[in-house]
Amino acid sequence: MSIGAPRLPWMSASLLALLCFAANAVQAAEAPDGQALVRTYCSGCHLEHDGVFERISSIRKTPEGWTMTLFRMHNVHGLALPEEASDAITRYLADTQGLAPSETAPSRFALERRPNAKDLDLGPDLAQMCGRCHSLARVALQRRDADDWLKHMHFHVGQFPSLEYQASGRDRPWWDIATKELPPKLGALFPLHTQAWSDWNGRTHREPTGHWVVVGHEPGGRDLVGTADIASDGKGGYTARYRLRDTAGRDVAGDSHALLYTGYEWRGRGALGGVASREVFALSEDGVRMSGRWFDPEHSEDGGDWTAVRADAPAQVVAVLPRAMKAGASGTVTIVATGVGPASSVSLGTGVTAKVVLADDGVIQAVAEVAADATTGTRTVSVGPAAGTGAFAVYRKIDQVDVQPSYAIARVGGGKVPPVTAQFEALASARDAAGVLVPLGPVPAEWSTAPFDAEAARTHDEKFGGSLDAAGRYHPAGAGPNPVREFSGNNTANLKVHARVADGASRLDGESHLIVTVQRWITTPIY
Ligand code: HEC
Ligand code: HEC
Repeated sequence: MSIGAPRLPWMSASLLALLCFAANAVQAAEAPDGQALVRTYCSGCHLEHDGVFERISSIRKTPEGWTMTLFRMHNVHGLALPEEASDAITRYLADTQGLAPSETAPSRFALERRPNAKDLDLGPDLAQMCGRCHSLARVALQRRDADDWLKHMHFHVGQFPSLEYQASGRDRPWWDIATKELPPKLGALFPLHTQAWSDWNGRTHREPTGHWVVVGHEPGGRDLVGTADIASDGKGGYTARYRLRDTAGRDVAGDSHALLYTGYEWRGRGALGGVASREVFALSEDGVRMSGRWFDPEHSEDGGDWTAVRADAPAQVVAVLPRAMKAGASGTVTIVATGVGPASSVSLGTGVTAKVVLADDGVIQAVAEVAADATTGTRTVSVGPAAGTGAFAVYRKIDQVDVQPSYAIARVGGGKVPPVTAQFEALASARDAAGVLVPLGPVPAEWSTAPFDAEAARTHDEKFGGSLDAAGRYHPAGAGPNPVREFSGNNTANLKVHARVADGASRLDGESHLIVTVQRWITTPIY
């Protein structure tokens, strides 16, 4: 990999040389010279040797990682960086010193700001040495060799001199471990040079422009289906226009403006159904699928899962909604698929009859009827030439209810810090003839809370923490101190969250654990 050389991520060096003065001359001429900007704004402190900048050239990070570093250069080291230069440098560094798709895959939950996500498991030493202050995903989303990881440890203590006494650093010789054992370990786990990156960096990447079919799911809320049209904005970015519908048939329009970093990291800002949204999506390596999460910029816990597939991709079933139907039931089923014409026939598998009532641009609606004697199991769904297994199931009775997330955190709000709600979802499953659990997707539930233990009952946590609404979202109370609480305590709580699901005459219960805690004062792009 040639670090420090300006190169567009979606072109190989030789291709770039060939095309630079031909088809892409306009684009190449318009793009700000990232290396020149780094020279102007950074080389006063980060000395340059033949296009290699001290520290800067020996690290690879995500766009969010570079944003955090640039913020620190400004906030702590006094760098004055105009917004356009900051954007151009972030883009240049993420493109030329980014991470390959396979390198970000395990840590995408942090980029997508998924609420209540489980952090990476990198073993007990990194969990205790680093994971007590921030996510290990923040660490795993960077690449550098042992010598630079050592410098990064020096930065931690230089910047936060009390670090060893914080976050339970005193139960171990923190500095000794951080400077002797960890740099080689981190350098081996997350090295600067990898095959994945040199392969990705040398490849031609497919542009995201075109027509896409889309499926979105908001936990505890709506499913969205429809299309996206993505076009170039002529300035190296993209515009997306969404024509979506929820499964109740209501239109949900939206749009966004996005940049594509590192050839696959889609970062958009726009609105969906009139609500501001941020988009953190990843384009698949072959450029035919985009997936990730959108969220409200002020409340990153509010959002949903997003999947888009190019409309001209090989025929495939992208999603079926609802994900399951009961034996003897009938109703409307929505299928999202690619490569299917308006007159396609639909099959939902053994024991189910289906008749198409509407087929519009990859979204097919059918009326389905499940035979009373149909057996429990997943079905193969086909629409014209598109077929898929696993997206749809039939069941006779619900056997298990799991509440997701199984452990959640909500935060009281106050002053300038908005409350952080927690959304729960009841996921049903049924056992097939072989005893294997078949997932049936989210189901409506009756929600309630209970004290988690005797201490939570004694301190009346249920009364002070907040309230759970009918859709399974917990709304925390305002921040304390609360004079009517013992010791004027804050409105924190330790609760059980119950879901009761009705299936015919029977009732099934699921349970989760909720902690209502204090505000998070600093919200960084990577938690
Ligand atoms: C006024 C001096 C100054 C300027 C200008 C400056 N930096 Fe830094 N930079 C530092 C210092 C000091 C450190 C080491 C401490 C730290 O990491 O905060 C550092 C560290 C870094 C690191 C390593 C951080 C890590 O992850 O361990 C990177 C990368 C970096 N700078 C990038 C940049 C870029 C890019 C620019 C220009 C846009 C820039 N710096 C401009 C002073 C500066
Ligand atoms: C006492 C708390 C604390 C501990 C312990 C800690 N960190 Fe950090 N770390 C921070 C803070 C605070 C920042 C954000 C610094 C900033 O950008 O202002 C940070 C930032 C980082 C970053 C991103 C910096 C950048 O510029 O991209 C990495 C990578 C990182 N830490 C790695 C580690 C590793 C590895 C360990 C364990 C050996 C560790 N940290 C332990 C507090 C801690």
